[in-house]
Amino acid sequence: MNVYEAIMQRRTIRKFKQEPIDRDILIKLIDCARVAAYGANMQPLKFAVIDDAAMLKDIYPLTKWAGALADGAPREGERPVAYIAVLCDKNIRPNGAAEVEVGAAVTTMMLEAEEMGLATCWLGAIQRDKIKQVLKLAPKLDVLYLLALGYPMQKSRMVEMTGGDVKYYESEDGTINVPKRSLDEVIVTL
Ligand SMILES: Cc1cc2nc3c(=O)[nH]c(=O)nc-3n(C[C@H](O)[C@H](O)[C@H](O)COP(=O)(O)O)c2cc1C
Repeated sequence: MNVYEAIMQRRTIRKFKQEPIDRDILIKLIDCARVAAYGANMQPLKFAVIDDAAMLKDIYPLTKWAGALADGAPREGERPVAYIAVLCDKNIRPNGAAEVEVGAAVTTMMLEAEEMGLATCWLGAIQRDKIKQVLKLAPKLDVLYLLALGYPMQKSRMVEMTGGDVKYYESEDGTINVPKRSLDEVIVTL
């Protein structure tokens, strides 16, 4: 798979096989995020692997899934088998603002995950302070986002957007359909 294929194929997946992911693979993803582009090369992000059963159980209730679907959250037996928590080190970036850096880092991890046959869901609707407590993080580390991971147990595909409706939806066979704006719509001709 080349980078273009990974970019085009990657879709958010919210149901995962209950097959563990090797630690080495999770560390490789963090290594990819480590070398992403960072504004002023500050590199304020830190990463924590969450993959033990007790912690996975504590983290799940602090997440929200698939706002556009009536019933899109993973049930027991479908939940992520790992998360990578994306943290901001306030000793490096005192105001904790690293949204742009998170974008680059998480995207890098998602694309490498795609190459390795893993599925991901970037989670922003999370209870950050409670997650910080569960992870027993040092005060200088703030939780910014979670990347949920597992081997895919769901299909998702891009579809043409009609009438400007951005809402993703589920087909009868359980496939998720994600409307994307057309190339014509996003290119501003000068
Ligand atoms: C910043 C950000 C936060 C997100 N937060 C959530 C979330 O909390 N829960 C969820 O189910 N999906 C979340 N998503 C996934 C989006 O819903 C998904 O990327 C979008 O519907 C487009 O689908 P695609 O990733 O398959 O292209 C988030 C994505 C981004 C970029």
